[in-house]
Amino acid sequence: MVSSAIPYGQVLFTHGHAAEAERLTALAAAFDSDTIHRLERIGIQPDWNCLEIGAGVGTIANWLATQCPRGRVVATDLDTSLISDEGRPPNLEIMAHDVTVDDFPEGAFNLICSRFVFEHIADRDAVLAKVVRSLAPGGWLLLEDTGPFPFDSSPNALYRKVSQAVLSIATKRMGSDYEWSRAFPAQLRANGLVNTGVHASSHGVGATPMGRAWRLTAEHIAADLNTYFGITTAELAEFADQVESSSFDDLCIASVAAWGQRPPATDLPNPRFPA
Ligand SMILES: C[S@@+](CC[C@H](N)C(=O)[O-])C[C@H]1O[C@@H](n2cnc3c(N)ncnc32)[C@H](O)[C@@H]1O
Repeated sequence: MVSSAIPYGQVLFTHGHAAEAERLTALAAAFDSDTIHRLERIGIQPDWNCLEIGAGVGTIANWLATQCPRGRVVATDLDTSLISDEGRPPNLEIMAHDVTVDDFPEGAFNLICSRFVFEHIADRDAVLAKVVRSLAPGGWLLLEDTGPFPFDSSPNALYRKVSQAVLSIATKRMGSDYEWSRAFPAQLRANGLVNTGVHASSHGVGATPMGRAWRLTAEHIAADLNTYFGITTAELAEFADQVESSSFDDLCIASVAAWGQRPPATDLPNPRFPA
């Protein structure tokens, strides 16, 4: 981590910020269908114990709870205040937890997932090793982290400039690493996981949830965009108009997903492994 970095949620992107619930809700609306598709391919069973790390507004944890009616889902976050109590399934437990500091029981979970969290945390490789130990034999891990590469080929100069600056500021201010996911799934194999795979998806901005999430992300760090990259109020306003306009077409961040399984207790292949 950059030595002056202050961890996610302490100064930037605190859940108490006025627009953070809207930003994370829009992010979830953009990516939940990809995450659910990836989880469905793993083959969730009704009696599984699941863990979501850094659950944000909790939409994936809520969905998991409906898939595991005879099991249990634990949703963690540094700050759980954005996870609504309303309509919460009885098998969903919410827990304040810092994955860089706090532990989980070893071998406890059939499934662990985490989206857009590991890219932000310190010592992510050591934390990953710890998280893998919490998988039961045969249990699955699904990690999804940001891939910045759609911006590199953007034909829209202002959009590319602001978007790349947003990621650079997160790296400078919070120690975020958006290249970590580019090596997926090697990090999972290095931790002994088998049946590993990788997949990436990206969504359009324009009048979409992704456009809304990306506008709110840039506006959150408007002062830094100006200080470090000279992006003016007028440029940021033009960028905001672009990403919320139905006539603007471009791709936003990619979600790079890696999955893998802790070797089952027997040598038999897992019949549910997605082809
Ligand atoms: C970019 S948001 C993603 C939220 C959600 N996973 C999603 O994809 O919609 C990152 C989330 O990770 C949480 N987080 C960041 N660092 C964490 C840590 N060390 N331990 C647990 N959660 C953390 C934040 O509070 C925030 O809710």
